[in-house]
Amino acid sequence: MIPVAIMGHGVVGSGVAEIIATHKQKLFAAVGEEVYIKHILDLREFPDSPFADRFTKNFEDISNDIEVRIVVETMGGLHPSYEYVKDCLSKGKSVVTSNKELVAAYGAELLAIASEQNANFLFEASVGGGIPIIRPMNQCLVANNVSEIAGILNGTTNFILTKMIRENMSFEKALKLAQELGYAERNPAADVEGHDACRKICILASLAFGKHIYPDAVRTEGITGITLEDVEYASIWGGVIKLIGSVKKIDKDTIDIIVAPMFVPLNSQLANIDDVFNGIMVRGDCTGDVVFYGRGAGKLPTASAVVADMIDCVKHLKSRKYLFWADSDNSSVLPAEKSVTAMFVRGVANNRIDAYYKAKDAFGDIHILHKASAPENEFAFIVEPMAIEDIDATLARLEEKEGIQVISKIRIGDL
Ligand code: HSE
Repeated sequence: MIPVAIMGHGVVGSGVAEIIATHKQKLFAAVGEEVYIKHILDLREFPDSPFADRFTKNFEDISNDIEVRIVVETMGGLHPSYEYVKDCLSKGKSVVTSNKELVAAYGAELLAIASEQNANFLFEASVGGGIPIIRPMNQCLVANNVSEIAGILNGTTNFILTKMIRENMSFEKALKLAQELGYAERNPAADVEGHDACRKICILASLAFGKHIYPDAVRTEGITGITLEDVEYASIWGGVIKLIGSVKKIDKDTIDIIVAPMFVPLNSQLANIDDVFNGIMVRGDCTGDVVFYGRGAGKLPTASAVVADMIDCVKHLKSRKYLFWADSDNSSVLPAEKSVTAMFVRGVANNRIDAYYKAKDAFGDIHILHKASAPENEFAFIVEPMAIEDIDATLARLEEKEGIQVISKIRIGDL
């Protein structure tokens, strides 16, 4: 019997316990022994749970139990998750987590402790929910130099944008629905303001480029400013708006990393990834583009990734799986304003035609978007690729000198 402990009995943690119970034979076949839940840590009471006799409120019951060599962390948040995970790893226990906030903030440190202790620290579920992405990147694509990763990494915002695009539903109504369906984080700001996607692209970037990229170094824009008007303009342009996490290698020492809503052309594989689904494109120099697709949120998809890591830990109780990146000072991150992109610009002006002439003079080529139902004073155009700082400076000049007012700026994804 392999005794394991689960810290946190929320959506994902209860899913992990459920899969261990319902897939007992399958897991036995995978490792040749029964995986047995010895402790579940949670401050709440679960008297009706089939695991009611395993609950504890005391972390020491897990930490000091030398029989338990594999611990699952599904509590979420940074504290006390960080302290508990660090404690377990320091005692040589392997830890599996779904907690992207933890991995994005402390991954380098926790991987280093795991390495010192010859233990494993695995986090497949932290990116893409049920989609295998960490293990494929770390194993199957390991022979490649990765030049770019771009993905829809947050199910909640993809669900909301899909409702806005397909059903003309308001942002607020779609968010409420996502929360009711259990997709959203405890604090939905983490989803809608892009922080959850940022943590995930940081984890993927750290894995691909071997250095920890911290979320506070990454320009992060959410979808709270996206309106149904913008959605309509994206459709006129020939695409859809998606929240994209992207990282590109610029040269051997520099990466361009961002989370932002983007216009995605309909012929991109990412354009048709809808609802709570996630999609991640990895560009390798040997493979070319590889796209991963599946359920990026939800109880059982995410729990299935956690259980898979747990099984990997059981198989590697005596040896360590190589999964590592070094700490860094974020100096490889290109300043966001230097990033080059095409941009959709929407605004109002006293004279729309005059605004187009002024914008053309200022930017060179622009591509005008006509919306039949647009108010008389509204303009919308696409600016050719240039550095964000140049786009911003030019728009600021137009606002100051030519009396136009910018309402929306949305990047055009090169996807
Ligand atoms: N809130 C997250 C999402 C959950 O919507 O994608 C999975 O990380």
